[in-house]
Amino acid sequence: MQPKVIIHGGAGNSVQDKGGLVPVRSALGKIVHTVSEQLLAGMSAIEAVVLGCHHLEDEPRFNAGTGSVLQADGQIRMSAALMDGVKQRFSGVINVSRVQHPIDLAQFLQDHSDRTLSDYGAAELARELQVPLYNPLTTTRLHEWMAERDQGFRSAMAGVVANNPEVGRGTIGVVVLDHEGRMAVGTSTGGKGFERIGRVSDSATPAGNYANSLAAVSCTGIGEDILEECLAAKIVIRVSDGFSLGSALEKSFEEAKNNQRDFGAIALDAQGGIGWGKTSQVLFAAYHDGEKSGDTLDLPLETTTGYIA
Ligand code: GLY
Repeated sequence: MQPKVIIHGGAGNSVQDKGGLVPVRSALGKIVHTVSEQLLAGMSAIEAVVLGCHHLEDEPRFNAGTGSVLQADGQIRMSAALMDGVKQRFSGVINVSRVQHPIDLAQFLQDHSDRTLSDYGAAELARELQVPLYNPLTTTRLHEWMAERDQGFRSAMAGVVANNPEVGRGTIGVVVLDHEGRMAVGTSTGGKGFERIGRVSDSATPAGNYANSLAAVSCTGIGEDILEECLAAKIVIRVSDGFSLGSALEKSFEEAKNNQRDFGAIALDAQGGIGWGKTSQVLFAAYHDGEKSGDTLDLPLETTTGYIA
């Protein structure tokens, strides 16, 4: 089987300075190539998803791991989930602090009976595993929060994607089909930014991150919208019920458009098809089919879905 990978680094409003797309394209392109190379060398789907998430969590322009946005109280709390499509097994952490790679905790939990832990439990797990303390705060995010505080926290959230793409932001996700036809998906986020303490993101729920042996989907955008559409699980279940991935994306994004949602999703199917959809103006995604790569940075601003067989 020819391995496939698609990754995202967020979705949101139009990028005004199109020249600024260059660093985002370059960051996504490098990471998708790295993951594809490892897949071609025989890496498993789960390992490749974790590898891709590490790179995206380490890239400060994206809102996950290093570079995560701050919540209303000035703290960073991150969420991440991993789903093994073959085992149909979901694991995750919700609102964890002071770790470099939240996805690692989700990976550890794959083999345990309690598979999704929230703040206190996730912190206890990190301590038990002796995960080194890590501060994911960047100067850009701190200044952004301070500016918002000066304005009296009038924004509902930090922009999902900044108008200045040098800054960039957005949940990250990785979807993989490996050489044995196994699928896996991972999603990691710093949340919306400026949210209330305890707000739960979609990213560590099956609405934002879901897979079985037929399809796998990772979402990005406004978490409340993703939860209310139950987007990732809905697309995967439509494929399980006989829709092609392309039709499942089309139907789900038509519904989302009618419901005035603001989000995007990336997907793969077991035949090696690569798909995406968005109601937001831009979706920062890139893919590699084992031979060549592409991205979604130049899509029209309107609601769009795509599928490459
Ligand atoms: N999609 C990320 C969040 O809303 O938290």
